[in-house]
Amino acid sequence: MRTKILVFFCIILRVYSQTMNDSTKLIMDLLNGYDRLVRPVIDQSKPVSLNISMDLVAIQEFDEVLDKFSVVAIVYITWMDPRMMWNPLNYNGLYTTTIPVSDLWTPNLIVGNSFDKIEPIGADWMRVRYYANGFSLYSPGDVFKTTCSVDVTFYPFDTQSCKIMLIPWGSLPNEITIIASSDVVFQTFFSENGEWEVLSTSVVTDETVIFPFIQFNIKMKRRPTFFLVNVILPIIFLGLLNILVFLLPAESGERISFAITVLLSIAVFLTLVGDNLPKTSKPMSMICYFLLVNLSLSTIICITTILNLRFYHKPEWKPVPRLLVAITRKLNCMSTPARDAVQPFNPATINEISGIEKAKISNQTSNKELVPAVTWKDISRMVDKVTCTLSFLWLFVSSTTFIVMISNNQEIT
Ligand SMILES: *[C@@H]1O[C@H](CO)[C@@H](O)[C@H](O)[C@H]1NC(C)=O
Ligand SMILES: *[C@@H]1O[C@H](CO)[C@@H](O)[C@H](O)[C@H]1NC(C)=O
Repeated sequence: MRTKILVFFCIILRVYSQTMNDSTKLIMDLLNGYDRLVRPVIDQSKPVSLNISMDLVAIQEFDEVLDKFSVVAIVYITWMDPRMMWNPLNYNGLYTTTIPVSDLWTPNLIVGNSFDKIEPIGADWMRVRYYANGFSLYSPGDVFKTTCSVDVTFYPFDTQSCKIMLIPWGSLPNEITIIASSDVVFQTFFSENGEWEVLSTSVVTDETVIFPFIQFNIKMKRRPTFFLVNVILPIIFLGLLNILVFLLPAESGERISFAITVLLSIAVFLTLVGDNLPKTSKPMSMICYFLLVNLSLSTIICITTILNLRFYHKPEWKPVPRLLVAITRKLNCMSTPARDAVQPFNPATINEISGIEKAKISNQTSNKELVPAVTWKDISRMVDKVTCTLSFLWLFVSSTTFIVMISNNQEIT
């Protein structure tokens, strides 16, 4: 202990007296007879023990369509190299140095689940730092492009787990062992991503498998506000707008064009969402079903509007089926008795109506003065009322179900 303190004291005292010659001598001495192909362990039957940790700098890209996840990260690799030991006192207290990796043994780490080419991480210009006791630190920083399969069932309220797997290429467990020097991925220099929030990280190593590896898991949650504001709310608003078609007067002649315009707008959103999602059917996204439900509602509204206009413009003398009359009376969708009661006595109307009908009407008016006749226009009004209510219910139920299902997922995760 005392000698250690003494050595340290000497280093501090003489720290300013190191010269260029000392550094040159040290590096020459270290590299003299050094073979970068030989693993840094004296007993070559023993493995080199690597301590690895990762520092996440940024989430660069997460492409759901391509299943591509790329991050910028620094990997800290430490090991002991018995060839790189020296006595600092022989070099005027020089106790640390760096040497470019091109002259040295370094672990050939590759990304196991790489998205494109398999390449060793790091570059030749990077340096390894050595300390006098043989401690070596290599910290290559890189963009790690990995494959990460996406589960978009709860899109845009989804949580994704991606992993970055590092493998010392071609090494057996009796040549290299990997120890995780931390349970989590560090975030010292991390800058937040606008789309993804990192929830948790973990590190996995397993020495029982046939090749050594280390795996960094990153669990993250999508920030849904953008999608909520730009897609989900507009779709619900379009649905509401769609229902308003039944409030448009049939005489205006605008009903069909209005309904079709809304239908087209929903179809545009369907394309928009489809472009952002992977073209996979294995986990179908719930939002696709939601959009489909809305699209079918819109289609049904279109069909109803067309049929209803036919009712509205049917000639008045055509008899109304009994069933429709009964429903209309039940739902109380009739025009005011005053108007209907007066109508048959209007000479202009009477002239247009055939004799039989005239008899019928006068019969009706004389027998049931208080119960007005049900016209095709009343039927049309009844259909409007019923479909309007049903469509509103449909929209309400589908939107609520969708939002509840999605937010439940949020709570679980
Ligand atoms: C460094 O080494 C050179 C040649 O070996 C020598 O000429 C020079 O004096 C040395 N400098 C110092 C400061 O020791
Ligand atoms: C590696 O980690 C182990 C346990 O955490 C520690 O005992 C050892 O000193 C570390 N080795 C290096 C070279 O960092």
